[in-house]
Amino acid sequence: MRTDPEVRRCTDRDLVALEAGEPPSSGIARHFLSEQAAGNIVFAAAWRDQQLLGTVVLDFHSEDAPELKHLYVHEGFRGAGAGTAMCRWIEAQAVRSGFGKLYLGVGVDNPGARRLYQRLGFTFAGRTTTATYQYVDHNGRKQWATETDDILEKTLSG
Ligand SMILES: CC(C)(COP(=O)(O)OP(=O)(O)OC[C@H]1O[C@@H](n2cnc3c(N)ncnc32)[C@H](O)[C@@H]1OP(=O)(O)O)[C@@H](O)C(=O)NCCC(=O)NCCS
Repeated sequence: MRTDPEVRRCTDRDLVALEAGEPPSSGIARHFLSEQAAGNIVFAAAWRDQQLLGTVVLDFHSEDAPELKHLYVHEGFRGAGAGTAMCRWIEAQAVRSGFGKLYLGVGVDNPGARRLYQRLGFTFAGRTTTATYQYVDHNGRKQWATETDDILEKTLSG
């Protein structure tokens, strides 16, 4: 029988597993752990039987705050509840931190993720943003991307 994913806050002890799942030299997990230590974000991951399934961030200082960001489930583990479990864990974390609302941005070209968020009760907040940002691709090369996101929101009940 397959166990449910366990979601918990990341610590320095998770660094080796987290770095194994990210593009080479991207420093993503190290950056998120240091932002978490500064109190700016919560950085969490979903695990099953010591296997890292995916990660997520709760950002306290983004334009629409608090914001669920960077939800990612590794290919091969999708469609098995890890994304849902991480969203629910982040919602509970936002409530514990005293917030009554949670925001997120979903790419206008990402209907799969939008379906997941709608199933969880998120609705369109009436704003669409476009941002250009740099990221590290799976070969460790820096690339630029432009993404247009619809902002979704959910009222939280404690
Ligand atoms: C979107 C994502 C986080 C969902 O994680 P997940 O663990 O597969 O989600 P769950 O198993 O909890 O829920 C499955 C739901 O996710 C959605 N989904 C999106 N992409 C999916 C995929 N490749 N495989 C399965 N489900 C997917 C579906 O709506 C599905 O719901 P349905 O069964 O009612 O159709 C994951 O597909 C992913 O990491 N995608 C790439 C990164 C991304 O798009 N992140 C979101 C940024 S806003």
